[in-house]
Amino acid sequence: MIRHLLHISHVSKHFGGNVAVSDVSFSVDEQQIFGLIGPNGAGKSTLFNCMTGFFPASSGEVIFDNKKINALRPDEVCRLGMVRTWQRVKPLGSLTVLENVMIGAFSITSVTREAEAIARENLHAVGLMDYAGKLAGSLPVGLKKKLELARVLATHPKMLLLDEICGGLNPTETGIILDIIRGVRQKGATIVFIEHDMKAVTSICDRIVVLNSGEKLAEGTPEEITNNPDVIDAYLGGGHNA
Ligand SMILES: Nc1ncnc2c1ncn2[C@@H]1O[C@H](COP(=O)(O)OP(=O)(O)O)[C@@H](O)[C@H]1O
Ligand SMILES: [Mg+2]
Repeated sequence: MIRHLLHISHVSKHFGGNVAVSDVSFSVDEQQIFGLIGPNGAGKSTLFNCMTGFFPASSGEVIFDNKKINALRPDEVCRLGMVRTWQRVKPLGSLTVLENVMIGAFSITSVTREAEAIARENLHAVGLMDYAGKLAGSLPVGLKKKLELARVLATHPKMLLLDEICGGLNPTETGIILDIIRGVRQKGATIVFIEHDMKAVTSICDRIVVLNSGEKLAEGTPEEITNNPDVIDAYLGGGHNA
């Protein structure tokens, strides 16, 4: 049976006088791949930050897995099963690739040997096993994105928030990441996907919300969104794509 895993209800976020997110509501079903798109500065990353406890929403509610999580810290949200990746990847450069992924695994086990086994499993899943012993800082960006994905997968999340995980990747690398995401969904996870590459978005997302200047501009299937005149006007048609 399909159920909502996430409810965003009238969420706003102000930074002083700057309204970054304004009265945004939508729901994400379990095992959905849900796209969050819109021009630069639309409030997408800020919404992820409000959802994962990096800073609280100014108003509104974030309900995850039937719990109100507005006031929780990122580590608490992670333990409930929701994790995010960062638009600018943040590996711990002086640790190895394996150690970086073990940090994710330590959120579900305190036994080092278990954390290492979980880390290796997820390095394997993203195709990074050959790099396990390399320093994370030495990887090119495409591989850092895979590392970021392995690190969040090692927390065994129910919901994965991916902030421009394909940004800066070529079409081949993007295709590989999309296949990994499809596999993760197949195993039961739910995904919210921020991305500018509309080919990637429409090929992978079941449903899409468009943000513009902090407000929800539209919601629908990929087909409805790509044919929506307001969306074409504000984002798709006008050379706003970053
Ligand atoms: N920590 C912050 N402090 C002040 N303003 C912020 C902060 N984070 C984001 N903003 C502002 O919020 C708005 C939305 O930014 P952001 O969420 O990064 O957009 P997007 O991810 O859609 O490109 C922008 O105007 C940005 O300058
Ligand atoms: Mg962003």
